[in-house]
Amino acid sequence: TRRFKIAAIAGDGIGKEVLPEGLKVLAAAAERFGLQLEFTHFPWASCDWYIQHGEMMPPDWKAQLSGMDAIYFGAVGWPALVPDHISLWGSLLKFRREFDQYINLRPVRLFEGVPCPLAGRKPGDIDFFVVRENTEGEYTNLGGVMFPDTEREMVIQESVFTRYGTDRVLQYAFELANARQRRHVTVATKSNGIAISMPWWDGRADAIHAEYPDVTVDKQHIDILTARFVLQPDRFDVVVASNLFGDILSDLGPACTGTIGLAPSGNLNPDRRFPSLFEPVHGSAPDIAGKGIANPIAMIWSGAMMLSFLAAGADADPRCGEAHDAIVAAIEDVLREGPRTGDLGGTATTVEVGDAIAARVRG
Ligand code: NAD
Ligand code: IPM
Ligand code: MN
Repeated sequence: TRRFKIAAIAGDGIGKEVLPEGLKVLAAAAERFGLQLEFTHFPWASCDWYIQHGEMMPPDWKAQLSGMDAIYFGAVGWPALVPDHISLWGSLLKFRREFDQYINLRPVRLFEGVPCPLAGRKPGDIDFFVVRENTEGEYTNLGGVMFPDTEREMVIQESVFTRYGTDRVLQYAFELANARQRRHVTVATKSNGIAISMPWWDGRADAIHAEYPDVTVDKQHIDILTARFVLQPDRFDVVVASNLFGDILSDLGPACTGTIGLAPSGNLNPDRRFPSLFEPVHGSAPDIAGKGIANPIAMIWSGAMMLSFLAAGADADPRCGEAHDAIVAAIEDVLREGPRTGDLGGTATTVEVGDAIAARVRG
């Protein structure tokens, strides 16, 4: 049996509360399906670590994580102690860039039993993926402040779109759509106002589309696209977007399905040269941290995504795929029958929901 080495990093806030529930469910799945998942816990990539050490991670963080098959990550950020751009550029954004996790795969799905904030929508109406570019675009530290503290103060923040980086995310999105029933890609754009990079992005989408004759495409400006997420969510299948647009869409989509507390993500290095990272879409939620009421399902579903990614590797173990399916089925059951946390209108604790899902996975 192949042994998978997984780094477990809790981070800050509710990251420390939802990670143990994810690990609990993965342990249950490992037991039932005979998987060997070996977890190593790392205390860094957290604001507590920063306060003690003056940096988010030890200098050899990359060596410590490089041999891992995957990283299972809670959430980072505690803005009351450390400015967000310091904590995030010192941890999560480093992982994404230095481990070349160029795909951020974020499923959006309306589950049975979850009240939908959009009128008249039922399960099946909302079931799509946001494929977010994850290593370049609007997320850069290129630029600076000139003439600070004067009336001529001026700020420049560059965006970077490479052909290499854009083509590979478009390729992934078309490949994903091609394997789905509806075979439709929506390209998020803003080629009216963002006059250089976005018309260029559209051109790359046309070029990649030419390789996928069976896939239909529509391009939508990000403004109307957000409106259609709310008004016509049933028209989406695979939505591909730049780093920032994808970030915004991947909170909006899950909000349309009831709560961001369900939304998982895979930060993927599809080449498998580096470990991929699996984490909830949501953050450390300082407003509810420490109360034991966070929804652990985004973390748990992210764990299932991790197994599914491991199941598809070169030395794949099909039991990982079965374990993925069992976890998703357990999530479906618990969303239908309860218990539910407060974001879903319930009164259950984080641990109660984790226990309920783990029990169902155990069978
Ligand atoms: P957030 O996602 O942490 O919280 C937004 C809102 O959603 C809050 O009201 C919160 O209580 C609620 N929420 C989030 N997750 C929930 C869950 N599992 N169950 C129930 N409710 C939940 O976003 P924010 O407030 O903008 O950011 C807080 C901190 O987290 C900041 O430091 C930010 O930079 C960081 N952040 C980190 C990540 C990450 O690690 N991937 C993602 C987003 C934000
Ligand atoms: C996410 C988060 C991060 C992002 C932040 C915390 C830097 O919002 O994973 O969606 O913008 O990518
Ligand atoms: Mn985000």
